[in-house]
Amino acid sequence: MHKLSKILLLMVFTTAVNATSEEQMIEESKQSIKQFSQQLKNKLQQAMKVGGPVEAIHVCQAVAEQISNKVSEQFGWKIARTSLKVRNIKNTADAWEKKVLQDFQRRTKKGEAVEQLEFSVIIDASNSQPVFRYMKAIPTQGICLSCHGEQLSTDVAEKIHQQYPDDQATGFKPGDIRGAFTITRNIK
Ligand code: HEC
Repeated sequence: MHKLSKILLLMVFTTAVNATSEEQMIEESKQSIKQFSQQLKNKLQQAMKVGGPVEAIHVCQAVAEQISNKVSEQFGWKIARTSLKVRNIKNTADAWEKKVLQDFQRRTKKGEAVEQLEFSVIIDASNSQPVFRYMKAIPTQGICLSCHGEQLSTDVAEKIHQQYPDDQATGFKPGDIRGAFTITRNIK
């Protein structure tokens, strides 16, 4: 075979391998997020039914953390939630996440559905090992409004304010981007 075509073939092959593994990582990310969000929503719905939003506050808090730890452990990478307007400062977006969230906002203004918004990248830091990062937008649904909506009941507002004096996560309307799931994964 001609030397050049050999090189070209090798290049195509390498790209194909990279493309598949990134695709695979995106697919796996989606699945872990699906698990996380379904478990969270079930727990939230149960708690709301039993004790109303005041009692359910701990679900979006402790249970979210538990599920996130469990899912992170199960898949071997970090999965968390973030937003441009956070309730818990521990969930504050880093510089990359902030940019992606801002881009999600622009994309919805251009007509993309919040449910479809995702973004991924492989960061190839020269000295360390490459890292795969993935984000998927979280839409605001009806069930979220009693704690993240425009008007909270006095008891919910009080309890939230007690625990999160710097809360920014209210004023959302159905269909708004509430935030995003964010995955960070070292590539072996
Ligand atoms: C019963 C109250 C309650 C309901 C209902 C609720 N949340 Fe939350 N949410 C909270 C609390 C409390 C936190 C802070 C959790 C923590 O300490 O990490 C939070 C945090 C979050 C975060 C992490 C970013 C941040 O602001 O700290 C996201 C994303 C989020 N909620 C999305 C939702 C979505 C989407 C829904 C609806 C499906 C929802 N929440 C319903 C109370 C609630």
